Amino acid sequence: NWKPEDKSIDQATQEMIKKAEKENIETIWDRLEAQQPQCGYGQLGICCKNCFQGPCRIDPFGDGPKKGVCGATADTIVARNLARMIAAGAAAHSDHGRHVVIAMYEAIEHGAPYPIKDEKKLKSVAKKLGIAVDNREIKEIAKDVIKKAFEDFGKQDDSIINFADAYANDKRKQTWKDAGVAPRNIDREVVEIMHRTTMGVDHDTVSLIAQGIKASLGDGWGGSLIATEFQDILFGTPQIGKREANLGVLKEDYVNIVVHGHEPVLSEKIIEAAQDPELIELAKKYGAKGINAVGMCCTGLELLVRHGTPIAGNYLQQELAIVTGAVEAMVVDVQCIMPSLVDVARCFHTKIIDTSSLATFPGATHIKFDERKADEIAKEIVRTAVENFSNREKNKVQIPKGKSEAIGGFSVEATLEALGGSLQPLEDAIKSGTIRGIVGIVGCNNVKVKHNYNHITLTNELIKNDILIIGTGCWATACAEYGIFLPEYAKNAGDGLRTICESLGIPPALNMGSCVDCSRMLVLADLMARDLGVDISDLPLAGSATEAMTEKAVSIGTYFVASGIFTHLGTTPPVLGSQEVVKVLTENAFDIVGGAFYVEPDPVKAAKTLTEYIEKKRKALGI
Ligand code: SF4
Ligand code: FE2
Repeated sequence: NWKPEDKSIDQATQEMIKKAEKENIETIWDRLEAQQPQCGYGQLGICCKNCFQGPCRIDPFGDGPKKGVCGATADTIVARNLARMIAAGAAAHSDHGRHVVIAMYEAIEHGAPYPIKDEKKLKSVAKKLGIAVDNREIKEIAKDVIKKAFEDFGKQDDSIINFADAYANDKRKQTWKDAGVAPRNIDREVVEIMHRTTMGVDHDTVSLIAQGIKASLGDGWGGSLIATEFQDILFGTPQIGKREANLGVLKEDYVNIVVHGHEPVLSEKIIEAAQDPELIELAKKYGAKGINAVGMCCTGLELLVRHGTPIAGNYLQQELAIVTGAVEAMVVDVQCIMPSLVDVARCFHTKIIDTSSLATFPGATHIKFDERKADEIAKEIVRTAVENFSNREKNKVQIPKGKSEAIGGFSVEATLEALGGSLQPLEDAIKSGTIRGIVGIVGCNNVKVKHNYNHITLTNELIKNDILIIGTGCWATACAEYGIFLPEYAKNAGDGLRTICESLGIPPALNMGSCVDCSRMLVLADLMARDLGVDISDLPLAGSATEAMTEKAVSIGTYFVASGIFTHLGTTPPVLGSQEVVKVLTENAFDIVGGAFYVEPDPVKAAKTLTEYIEKKRKALGI
């Protein structure tokens, strides 16, 4: 008896959930219900299957076993499982980063069609890395930048990775060095987690978590940062502009293509191909008015912040986009893509096209991507979608009206420009108390949380308290759909934040992009710390992953904490089976890296705690 109104706060989403129910199409909410009750051992993190003497599980309350067959305690098992979650999350972000570096390498060395769009950004990244830029050819600078990035994935010495070294301030780096968590090599830290957590290696909660932190820093200040910076170089640094969001961006009379996943190396090309006059002509021949290419999830955000491409939704809306009956093709690459899409698509004419050599979906159409032939493949994909238009069953089409306008594209560069060239106006506002502080909110929807409810409620509560919000991922799409990214939304903020937003013409919450763009938040925090001559952990900042779900979110949360940021989770990760692990994450971490986790499912309560934390930081700074 779970009503559509209780599954999402968004009307367009509710409308499509109702359509799915009426047409007997199974969605994620049905599958969650079918899983009830979910495994209590799994929820607490106390089951282990790291060897096949197991699986073992620890009895958390009764007189059952307190040790696995090998002797592993609940603490060891929980810490190992947590470390593996971080490894997977860091691997996903960083492999994405690697793919972008490879695209640039392929462009420079083998003529792949990825010209450098933002030379200014290339030079600024090169300068940070200590690479000479004066009187040098762009290609030569690019080669050196690529080399530095490749080194971070492959060097074998114990020094900190190049990007973290170049981007993080000295105070932060010293903290990492003292704690023994400075990342040496993005890939190696992930591999080392797999080594340490295999049967019979590391059994100590603190040392396992420390390695988790190391890998997460290799993500935030390595793989994710590299993804962001290289994407800006290749596709342009996001600039502030108007966009549209929600399922209502699909168009009844057009060929609708939804690009879904994470890596813009593909989606950038699809968007280009969708503007090809020949293919538009072909679409018209099939009776459509044209081609409407829109985004979904993070690759959608990548396109939205750079080119103003509309976004059809966030994680929990992916099946529902197909339920509209109006999607000719959903083109997917990697991460956050439900395998169920293929089943939903079977109820319609929609083609699911998988494109990544890493990710094959049984039942989908496979058109695998290759950087060197990017343009041809993108055109083939768009043509496949166009040719599918005639298969659309008109009586099955129902596109919800719901869509919202939103301002997006707040890269650090664009934000600085909006502020007149430096962060000083923002820092002055923080010092004077007009703005009390900043909270960075990151992505995910989690089907266990009412879709977008935590994102919107937490954001609303915090802006009332004059706290500026920055953020990425599914949070950003939620806010875009809700109208929070409009400057006029500032009327819902406290007087101080409202005044600042009105004078600058900005919304009270800023969309910084996709989940790898969480690195932009780190860069912003670092800049502020440098300006004020303090460590990031001294600033009136906090973080939140309020509808967290993926292993990637665990990695992001961990590198936020390890960057000195107090970080809220609105959902509970599977760690409660170990008091010791919980204590390290929520208390001891403060002493080691200056930040820690805090779990609170109620966003109103969480806003109160985050506000109090920010006030405490202000007091300590004497502002
Ligand atoms: Fe059980 Fe130990 Fe094997 Fe895990 S590693 S399954 S606890 S015996
Ligand atoms: Fe994402």
